[in-house]
Amino acid sequence: MEIFIDTANVSAIRQFSRIGIVDGVTTNPALIASEGRNFREVVEEICTIINGPVSAEVISLHAEGMIHEGRLIAKIHPNIVVKIPATPAGFEAVNVLSQEGIKTNVTVLYTANQALLAAKVGATYVSPFVGRLDATSTSGTELIQEIVSVFNNYNFSTKVLAASMRNSIYVKHAALAGAHVATIPPEVLEQMMLSELTDLGVEGFLAEWNTLPEEKRNYFS
Ligand code: G3P
Repeated sequence: MEIFIDTANVSAIRQFSRIGIVDGVTTNPALIASEGRNFREVVEEICTIINGPVSAEVISLHAEGMIHEGRLIAKIHPNIVVKIPATPAGFEAVNVLSQEGIKTNVTVLYTANQALLAAKVGATYVSPFVGRLDATSTSGTELIQEIVSVFNNYNFSTKVLAASMRNSIYVKHAALAGAHVATIPPEVLEQMMLSELTDLGVEGFLAEWNTLPEEKRNYFS
């Protein structure tokens, strides 16, 4: 499974990219706004840090505006993926942009039918919002399973990008359900790397090691 980082914070992107676990980045208008920076400037900087897909979202609500913004956003960098909401206007915009070779990510998506239509109009990714769906007492993980099955049934090349990952358990469930990608906030990526048992294990090894006389504790001579 590919791992994208769900943030517009360039320090966090640098930090997790250095570890080697980040294949791409997703942003949205709220994440960009939380950085208090100019949209284009942030997106350009992200593209210099990560050599992989970078999703940047349109803000227009009608197809014509989405198409116009999508074309402009796509020109920022070859790795840009234009993020477009799963609305009737959004499907129309994705249909036009995908025929122009512009990569798209259909976002704020909550049903297998929306995913099917997104694939039909040539979306590169669909982003089911798993955590937000769970918050309405509907299983986000089941939605991922359904979309993966639908895409497999018809050999769609559209990738399932599990989004709204609220904690590390969501990521595990997305991986088990066959999501191609999960986009994960920095704090959840951090959580995924940690286990108290690992820390205790390492501590135990060192405690035993330190029982050796000091002159025998040199590893390399
Ligand atoms: O790209 C944002 C998407 O992952 C939604 O996340 O945490 O706002 O539900 P959240």
